Amino acid sequence: MIVYFNGNYIPKEEVAISPDDRGFLFGDGVYEVICAYSGRLFRSDAHLERLSRSLKALRIEEPRLEKLSDVARKLIVKNGLKDLDAKVYMQITRGAAVRDHAFPNDKTSPTVYAFASAFAIKESKWESGVKAICVPEMRWPRCDIKTVALLPNVLANQLAVEAGAEEALFVRDGFITEGAVSNFCAVFDGRVHTYPESHYILSGITRTVVLDLCRRLDIPVKEFPVAESRLKQADECMILGSTKEVMPVVQIDDMVIGDGKPGSITQRLQKAFKNEKLTAE
Ligand code: PDD
Repeated sequence: MIVYFNGNYIPKEEVAISPDDRGFLFGDGVYEVICAYSGRLFRSDAHLERLSRSLKALRIEEPRLEKLSDVARKLIVKNGLKDLDAKVYMQITRGAAVRDHAFPNDKTSPTVYAFASAFAIKESKWESGVKAICVPEMRWPRCDIKTVALLPNVLANQLAVEAGAEEALFVRDGFITEGAVSNFCAVFDGRVHTYPESHYILSGITRTVVLDLCRRLDIPVKEFPVAESRLKQADECMILGSTKEVMPVVQIDDMVIGDGKPGSITQRLQKAFKNEKLTAE
């Protein structure tokens, strides 16, 4: 595998990251995951704008290297992924310096690492729907920053796997915020409800695309928190994310959602999202 490391394209085995790297010591870094369909990037501008916002929030100066969308495209070509669906992972940390909590001096340059790998979602999950579980929110109140410090997400996702579920949904003060790796929405009486943009959720690119599709399809949207206690009244539920796309959730904990099958609004959004993927560039 050819990866990108601090300005160079090299075999993965040749990457040498210092044990003093602050990403390793403190989780002091940010990341993005961008999907590519047949070699074409989906909403890379939006992903890279969010990466800039995450860097700004952590006060890491944006490295002046090659444009990251070009890096992503080159990684796809160099790894023979042009005709496949793939995901590109990009990470920027504050760099390597003697361990001290406060920022190192200005001479420390960020560490930039990116790779591309083949990626395909199991289509049967879109057709049958998946199970999710609820877990208490245990993250810091800046979930809008896409930081590599993902321990609560890791623990939550592991609980989901152990429960035979696809995703863990965080519950903050009685309301579902989002999943460990995706945003969440529920449909009540034909209206899509989802947690509003705030510090408590990641502003998902898939979420933005789907809310835009709702507007285009005349599906009403209410950006308002869904109470865990109201889930049993939901007609449909979905998780949204680059690695899930529009995935129906048909069971949450022991509760069957709707009639236990992907609902009509979910199916309309899945279809529209599939078309939207054709706009990748
Ligand atoms: N995760 N919320 C969280 C906590 C996420 O980690 C993600 C994505 C999303 C969806 O965002 P988007 O639609 O922009 O992919 C929401 C990525 C895929 C990951 O961590 O691998």
